[in-house]
Formats: sequence, structure tokens, C-alpha cells
Amino acid sequence: MRRLSFHGKTQVNRPTILTGDRTTGPLHIGHYAGSLSNRLRYQDSHEQFLLLADTQALTDNARDPEKVRRSVMEVALDYLAVGIDPSRTTICLQSHLPALAELSVLYLNFVTVARLERNPTIKDEIRARGFGRDIPAGFLCYPAAQAADITAFKATVVPVGDDQAPLIEQSNEIVRRINATAGRDVLPEARAIIPKAGRLPGIDGKAKMSKSGGNAIALSASPEKVRNAVKAMFTDPNHLRVEDPGCVEGNVVFTYLDAFDPEQDGLAELKAQYQRGGLGDGKIKARLEAILQELIAPIRMRRSQLSEDREYVLEVIREGTERARERTEATKRDVVNALGLFQL
Ligand code: TRP
Repeated sequence: MRRLSFHGKTQVNRPTILTGDRTTGPLHIGHYAGSLSNRLRYQDSHEQFLLLADTQALTDNARDPEKVRRSVMEVALDYLAVGIDPSRTTICLQSHLPALAELSVLYLNFVTVARLERNPTIKDEIRARGFGRDIPAGFLCYPAAQAADITAFKATVVPVGDDQAPLIEQSNEIVRRINATAGRDVLPEARAIIPKAGRLPGIDGKAKMSKSGGNAIALSASPEKVRNAVKAMFTDPNHLRVEDPGCVEGNVVFTYLDAFDPEQDGLAELKAQYQRGGLGDGKIKARLEAILQELIAPIRMRRSQLSEDREYVLEVIREGTERARERTEATKRDVVNALGLFQL
């Protein structure tokens, strides 16, 4: 087995990042464009923690704990395969950090049910999941738990997709209430870092790309899957003949090219040509497919190597969780002290 070493501790005064993903399945290229690429960029400049959010995954998957369990390994493999380096970034498991649960319970007293119900992300997700009136309490309350995640690490920077912005805002509200009650700034507020492009649509162009929506391209997708996904991709339904002028807005191929094409100048020219007419969908799809194949191939290769060495991946999660435990327990003590609760 490879030995693990961690270099992060020696550097001081770097801002702290906490972010994470629900463990509900393998990550997709939307995650890459949305937050993974930012997380890769911050590995040296920031002290970074990545949370495998299995407890949060249960809030809308309580009937399928097996999927949540299995996906822990999938997401960890995706992190490592895209280049998250465990000697610089700490990968940790939410359900094994009891301080997160304890802080969540405290924080629930600093937020109202009405405020939780008003959270735009929660509202959207309730609609998308078809909960109707049967909303799991854990689901409605997960913004308080996510505030616990962020603050337990005293994170000030949270790189996430744009759908998560209201959650960071709500976390900061809880922080302000706790600080006001404590009479001092025991917890810092955090700032979301959101990619300019916003969230990628699914290949059908209808909804956002999602693991559950069946419209995603996984970071571990086979070359055939990538090819078929690009082939099936929504373009401009009125662009019937090559010589017809085509529409770039709402055309998924161009949206993805915006996110992934390294030659943005050439892309601008291509768009102009498409709009004038004379450029077929086959051409733009071929360009996108080549770019996606090139992005995914090394990730897929690293991922399949790593999946042969599960012991190593487990060790990465164990060590990371151990480091995270110290950190989060310390914050829990700070909060309990700051609120002046009884101590034995
Ligand atoms: N809500 C995030 C998602 O849907 C996962 C998550 C859990 C998270 N805790 C977090 C993100 C803390 C940022 C910070 O994937």
C-alpha cells in the first residue's frame, strides 16, 4: 500500500475552503465545470476540505441508503481522478464527524421553519422531487446542517454551483445570529465562489444536468457513452438544413462549448457562421465530442487505476476524516462555550 503524507498543515494563514457533494452517484461534467475545476485551482492557495456528504444525501434518499453508501466510494474516486491531491486537500466523510450533527441541532434553534421554507433552493428541490406535503424533516432542515458543515471548519470560502448560493446566504444568517447571541464573533461568515457560466443544462436542454435526471455525462463515461450523448444532444430544432441560419442560444452544444472549449476565439467565429447559416450540427458536435473525449479520457484512466486500489482510497478517506474530526470538535467546543451552555 502507498504511504500517505499530508503537506497542508505546514502552511499557515491560508483561507479555509469547505465544500462537498451529496453521495448519490458518480459526478458528471456539470460538476467539473461548476465546482471541481475551481477546487483544483485552490489546492495550494487555500486550506481545502472536501466533504463526502452522505448524511445530507440521506435527506432525499432515505429509502435507498445502499445507494448513498455505495456512492461514497464513487465520489471519492471522482475527486482523486480529476486531480484532487489528498496531500493538499482533506477529503472527509460527513457521517463520521459527530460534531457536524451536534452543531446542526444547535443551529436549528437559530432558524425558523418559515425561513427554511422560503429558501429558494429548498423550494426548487421540493418541487423537483415531488415531495408535495410529505417533505422529510431532515430535508427541510438541511440548510442548517449545511451551515454546520461550513462553520465547523471555520471556512470563509465555499466553491459551489449557483444553485447553492441561497444555502450560503442562510448559513451566514445563522452565523450572525449565533455571534449576536454570543456577543462576539465566534464563527466567520463565508463567501460562495460561483462559476460565471452557471449550471450546465442536461444534454436534453430541458433541465439542469443531474445524476437523477438521466441527462448527464459522467466523468467516468466510456467513449461510446460520450459519443452517443453528444449525438443525442439538443441543438436548434429549426435548423433543418446546413444552409439554414441556426440559433446559438439554448443550443446545448454551444453551451457546452462555452464551458469546455479551450479555443474561445475560434468558437466565436463558429457561432457567427452557425447563425449565418452554412454550418451543420454534425460539425459542431464533432468539435464538442473531441473536446469532451480529451477531457474525460485521462480522468477515466486514473479512475480505473484507483478503483483497483480501494484500500488506498479508503485510507485517504480515513485519514482525512481523522484530521477533520479534530478541527470540527474544536469548533463545536468554541460554539458551546460562546453560547455559555452548562459544562461538566
Ligand atoms: N449541498 C451540496 C450538494 O448538493 C453538498 C454539500 C453538503 C455542501 N455540505 C456542503 C456544499 C457544504 C458546500 C458546503 O451537492
